[in-house]
Amino acid sequence: MKINEKFNVLCVDLTHDGLGVCKIDNFSIFVKYLLPNEEALIKITKINKSFGFGEIINIYKESVNRIEPICKHYYECGGCDLLHVNYKYQLEFKKKMAEESFKRLGNLDLKVDNIYGMNEPLFYRNKVQVFFDMNDKLISGFYQSKTHKVFSLEECFIQTDTASMIVKDFTRLANKYNLTSYDETLKKGILRSMLIRSNSACEYIIVIIVRHDIEVALKNIAEELKRLYPNIIQFIMNLNYKETNTILGKKDKIIFYNKMLYEVVNNIKYVIDYKSFFQINYVQMVKLFNKVKDYITIYDKTVVDGYCGVGAISLQVANKVNKVFGIEIVEEAITNANLNKEINNIKNIDFILGKTEKQLKAIKNIDCIIVDPPRKGLDIELVNSIVDKKINKIIYVSCNVATLARDLAVFNKNYNIIEVNAFDLFPHTKGLEMCCLLTLKNE
Ligand SMILES: C[S@@+](CC[C@H](N)C(=O)[O-])C[C@H]1O[C@@H](n2cnc3c(N)ncnc32)[C@H](O)[C@@H]1O
Repeated sequence: MKINEKFNVLCVDLTHDGLGVCKIDNFSIFVKYLLPNEEALIKITKINKSFGFGEIINIYKESVNRIEPICKHYYECGGCDLLHVNYKYQLEFKKKMAEESFKRLGNLDLKVDNIYGMNEPLFYRNKVQVFFDMNDKLISGFYQSKTHKVFSLEECFIQTDTASMIVKDFTRLANKYNLTSYDETLKKGILRSMLIRSNSACEYIIVIIVRHDIEVALKNIAEELKRLYPNIIQFIMNLNYKETNTILGKKDKIIFYNKMLYEVVNNIKYVIDYKSFFQINYVQMVKLFNKVKDYITIYDKTVVDGYCGVGAISLQVANKVNKVFGIEIVEEAITNANLNKEINNIKNIDFILGKTEKQLKAIKNIDCIIVDPPRKGLDIELVNSIVDKKINKIIYVSCNVATLARDLAVFNKNYNIIEVNAFDLFPHTKGLEMCCLLTLKNE
């Protein structure tokens, strides 16, 4: 087998990254965008020791699950992974992927009990980040898959239409004021990226991340933008002087600030700071939070919400229990969590700044712990602490099935895994959110 050599293949499976798996004399070749049961002519693009990669030249027999991607940028954009298959199949693929990960990475024979998809899986993202580049004039968009090369974004079906329009209008106005993009290699230019955060009431925060202070130009642009989009409630310049590709700098300058951005979930109001973590898909987040609430019973008097962010889950469960301890490592998030507690007039939560693995040790008589860690999963110190304390119930929310499988394998010795639910928070991408219920085994 050589690079550029062509083969007729049959696709037999999909990898967890959504690549088609083909066998050529028992040697695995992974082909992007090819689907199980499809027959195609492919070209070999890379050969490793025990597997290789190929690209499609022509598909002879198409899968019944293949559809025409809705977005014209799909094949160059690094954002979506599954726009070439129908939504029903996306959910089946994600469920299978999760179950296979439990087996492969945790040696667990677990089934996903339910997978919750969206009725209309489009325009769901409430947080968007676009980058700038020069192409005769300033352009804005996402990075091309696996590169730092920006393509000019004309449409996007997972962020709101208003967000896409704001990006286009900002770029047009930035060109009018001769603003340039920051070039990472030459260390020259001004605009690094743009962050947009919105809520379900369609209000927007705009953050422009810059290399140098351009307050005057941004004031003019913000004024014009505000006339076009009166629902922009904050416009912030974030100064990032660094020569690295870190996204945000430490210093903010407010260009204008009309009011705070709020989100409301089940009658609980949340203040959202552009820097704090908040789930990016409102409709699916509500389903996820309701599942967590359903798992809380009258026996759960003292509950810990580890990794609590701005207190999203703590505030949802507070009225079902006696006491909640929310633990979070980011100071701004704890400040927001306390503000959220105050505006909702909730008294039975203590928010603690620090690492869950350290802070948990001091809390006594815990009936239930909710954990919602970042992608790297739980710290082993925390897993051991939960087991040592014999906490009766664990509700594990996870955005990474690989680390979830690893952690569940450890808990499996002392806990029964009662239910596993999947929530499609990220339609058209390979991402999946999980929520599992575990109870302590009787000794
Ligand atoms: C996936 S978010 C979950 C936030 C929240 N549960 C929600 O739904 O909005 C994970 C959070 O854990 C925080 N975090 C990361 N490592 C932590 C640690 N060791 N201890 C406590 N919090 C941590 C992050 O800052 C982030 O806010």
